[in-house]
Amino acid sequence: MRVGVIGFGQWGPNHVRNFSQLDGCEVVRVCDFSDARLAAAQKFLKGVAVTRDPADITRATDIDAVVVATPTGTHHALVKAALEAGKDVLCEKPLAPTAAECAELAALAAAKGRILMVGHVFLYNSGVLHLKTDLDRGELGRIYYMDAVRTNLGPVRSDVGAIHDLASHDISIFNFLLNAQPLEVSATGNCVLQKNVEDVGFLTLYYPGNVVCHAHTSWLNPRKVRALTIVGDHKMAVWDDMNNLEPIRYYDKGVTADHYSSFGEFHMILRDGQITIPKVKLAEPLTRQDNEFIACIRARRQPAANAEFGHAIVRVLEAAHESLRQHGRAVKVASA
Ligand SMILES: NC(=O)c1ccc[n+]([C@@H]2O[C@H](COP(=O)([O-])OP(=O)(O)OC[C@H]3O[C@@H](n4cnc5c(N)ncnc54)[C@H](O)[C@@H]3O)[C@@H](O)[C@H]2O)c1
Repeated sequence: MRVGVIGFGQWGPNHVRNFSQLDGCEVVRVCDFSDARLAAAQKFLKGVAVTRDPADITRATDIDAVVVATPTGTHHALVKAALEAGKDVLCEKPLAPTAAECAELAALAAAKGRILMVGHVFLYNSGVLHLKTDLDRGELGRIYYMDAVRTNLGPVRSDVGAIHDLASHDISIFNFLLNAQPLEVSATGNCVLQKNVEDVGFLTLYYPGNVVCHAHTSWLNPRKVRALTIVGDHKMAVWDDMNNLEPIRYYDKGVTADHYSSFGEFHMILRDGQITIPKVKLAEPLTRQDNEFIACIRARRQPAANAEFGHAIVRVLEAAHESLRQHGRAVKVASA
């Protein structure tokens, strides 16, 4: 499988490393606008050909699969060119800045019979996969709410704000775990460092079945936190993605209302049981994701993070930005 990678900034090198190490895979060419980054690519992967022209990858006859790891605003044009030339494409998240662009790319991929995967890497994270298995078999019972925190100091972007950059991860996790999409979103935040680029976002997402999810995302925060709390009527879970040894804890805790008189009196009974720490086998999520891209190409099957999945996330991001403009008023998420 001959792979071309467009974009060798912060994240592109991780794809180059993974694809060059996968069995039966070869990174044949790397593209970037920056000569310094191309020099870095040649140092990183000895003998790799480099180019400043994306068409040398999207239209190359010696390349089967294209990886797009450039800033979000460039994704649509690059992915479109690669799909039109008959390539299978792995595009970094978010798929494109607008839902209309995502819809166009999804339709093009379908019309051309191509794999279009979006780099929603948390679908390949060991902790998330463990939670997904347990949620699907009802371990936590009915889900009441989820609360995610994704904060750090930097990296600060200027092409997209913290909601597109960071909350896209949390929305992908919520959608994946709940196997659903939010109906409405309410978002507040603040643009402090740059005009019209939010540094902090607080999103409340309303899912079917009265499930509420909240995401606090910021690149202007003193602490690096990657945490998710899930509260169900049977158990509660806390996932700490910064903890490599024991990322998940299940709490056998809950509250039940005990009605004890005919006058509607009741009291709350707290259940404060065991805390369980499951064994979670860690693996690099990007390796799994890139492996899955190649497996999907070989089997001609769609990945979980396909174009429709990526499109759904961008519809939520659009609604979140509209809500942000309206100071947090709940905004309906467009349906597909
Ligand atoms: N999945 C994750 O956890 C994760 C993490 C980081 C970044 N990302 C995503 O990866 C993408 C890239 O992020 P980054 O942090 O590497 O950005 P970056 O700005 O560090 O690097 C982007 C590179 O692309 C090059 N470039 C820009 N436009 C180009 C074009 N049209 N053709 C060729 N090269 C071009 C730039 O010169 C730069 O070297 C973004 O979509 C981002 O959201 C994903």
